[in-house]
Amino acid sequence: MADERDEIRSRINIVELVGREVNLIHHGKTWKGLCPFHQDRNPSFTVSPQTGRYKCWSCGEAGDIFNWVMKRQNVDFAEAIRILAKEAGVTINARGPQVSPSVKQAQEEAMEEALQFFREHLGKSTVAREYCERRGLDAQVLADWEIGYAPEVSSALAAHLKKKNFSLAECKSLFLVDEDSQGGYFDKFKGRLMFPIRDERGQLVAFGGRLLGDGVPKYINSSDTPLYRKSKVLYGMNRARTSFGKQRRAVLVEGYLDVIACHRAGVTSALASLGTALSEDHAKLLKRWVDEVVVLYDSDAAGQKAADRAVTILGAEGLRVRVALMPQGEDPDTLLKSAGPAAVQQAVETGLSPVDYKMQALDLKQSTLIPEDYWVQAVAILANSPNEMELDRHLMRLAGKYPGISDVGKAQQALRREVNKIRRAAAANRNQPERPTTIRTELPAEDLSSAELVLFRAFLSAEFRRIGWMFVRVQDLFTTQLGKTLSGAVAEAFAAAPPEGEPSRWLHEIEDEQLRQKMADLLLDARADNLNEAYIADTVELLTLNQKKRKLRESKSEGLDTQKRQEYLLRLREQKPNYSKKQQDEDNLFS
Ligand code: UTP
Ligand code: MN
Repeated sequence: MADERDEIRSRINIVELVGREVNLIHHGKTWKGLCPFHQDRNPSFTVSPQTGRYKCWSCGEAGDIFNWVMKRQNVDFAEAIRILAKEAGVTINARGPQVSPSVKQAQEEAMEEALQFFREHLGKSTVAREYCERRGLDAQVLADWEIGYAPEVSSALAAHLKKKNFSLAECKSLFLVDEDSQGGYFDKFKGRLMFPIRDERGQLVAFGGRLLGDGVPKYINSSDTPLYRKSKVLYGMNRARTSFGKQRRAVLVEGYLDVIACHRAGVTSALASLGTALSEDHAKLLKRWVDEVVVLYDSDAAGQKAADRAVTILGAEGLRVRVALMPQGEDPDTLLKSAGPAAVQQAVETGLSPVDYKMQALDLKQSTLIPEDYWVQAVAILANSPNEMELDRHLMRLAGKYPGISDVGKAQQALRREVNKIRRAAAANRNQPERPTTIRTELPAEDLSSAELVLFRAFLSAEFRRIGWMFVRVQDLFTTQLGKTLSGAVAEAFAAAPPEGEPSRWLHEIEDEQLRQKMADLLLDARADNLNEAYIADTVELLTLNQKKRKLRESKSEGLDTQKRQEYLLRLREQKPNYSKKQQDEDNLFS
């Protein structure tokens, strides 16, 4: 596998790969652009063909081609390799133990078999097809979303899967069938319209089933299975992921039919969490794909509560959020039916900022609140505004009705004081601000000394690789913590021989991701830009000498007597017969 990874690395040009999504401009040894991982105003994002890595100097996001694909396409490492291998035309021979691919494959096949079964039965069922028609699900929609029907028979699927030689015990773990007390198996979904749920890679992982008529439960959803974590899958993601566009915006709705309705209305970036409230994991998943989420929930009390929650969770992941509540009593599905596609699109476009949305909701229920409560809540909402212009707008609007102060200007000031009070209290309450997760802390913050840098740069260069390699592994030469750590890492990764070729071909042998990045960063340190032989030789000499001096100082503090120190010093000089007068003088300081 390692060989294939190297082969892929050598065939994929990281500048070209990243350049598909980020406008890159050639700048010295690297390429620069606006960081796609945070709101970047000045280009802080660099891509180095030399090291085969990208890095944002502002948010700290960094990695190689595989990390890039993992992050941008939200896939695991194995999948990133597959994607890039395909692109590079490299075939991967899976060697070594893998997580029982046969079991997983059988599970996936069972799911696909069940889907085929449901699809066939939709064709056979008049009631189901009539229901679809009533709901506006035409043939195209049924095909696009692979909608099926689970017949009203207690073990039709179980029998079918058995006939196809699937283990029913396995199918039970997939939430397709269940076991009765006699050890027989029966279907989990009966008489339900079936919505297959595919994860963002298109893998079929679960089903949701809706009763054709009224009744409870209206929907049954697969629980977590070996293939499915419901907190990590969003319905529609596999189709929406190509529609987030340059704005990187997704529309979050409540249900299956809302996702479908949005897509039918041309809002193809719609998705939904499934039979479960939006989770942190959902927000993380979204964050990898988009920068902004429009929350398009029902306007009933439950919908508002869910929207509040979504705003908090999405905001905490650093996503920009807008809230677009549906007209009273509608969801995207009913709105599409009653008012057409433009109304759905319109609803998305009228999304409000969280503060505007909360103020609007508060104003709507103002008549039911005692005045004090209204003002306490209003000030609390405003204190959360990240945007001063937005805050001013609200302060101006509210000042006119602030009780007890008739002068509008004074009322505005009074309100602002209240807002500031809450902000100060919140700031004081906040424990240590959390570091962004991309910046990890174990790495020593101090920089390398110039001399240390020269050794590493020699090692990183093609020309002086061998001499660099000989010395960078001598941990004792280094005095900075970073130097020592990097030295250890090189010694470990390249114990037997120096690596060959551009760093992009071998940097990955340094196991630790952060150290790898640190090494890559050294290439950009201008202090060692004019490497030549004499410079390197001088540096080696200087560092060796310093090392010896340190040894001597240690021996002194260990209490060696004067005699021993003199001997030590003599030995030192013998080893280094031609060092300069100045250094001799320095050494004398120790005697
Ligand atoms: P809704 O009750 O709003 O249903 O639930 P809906 O999506 O509008 O469906 P129709 O239009 O009545 O047919 C929204 C979502 O909540 C989950 C489903 O994911 C549903 O799409 N849900 C709802 C359940 O998981 N179980 C239920 O019993 C009800
Ligand atoms: Mn609905």
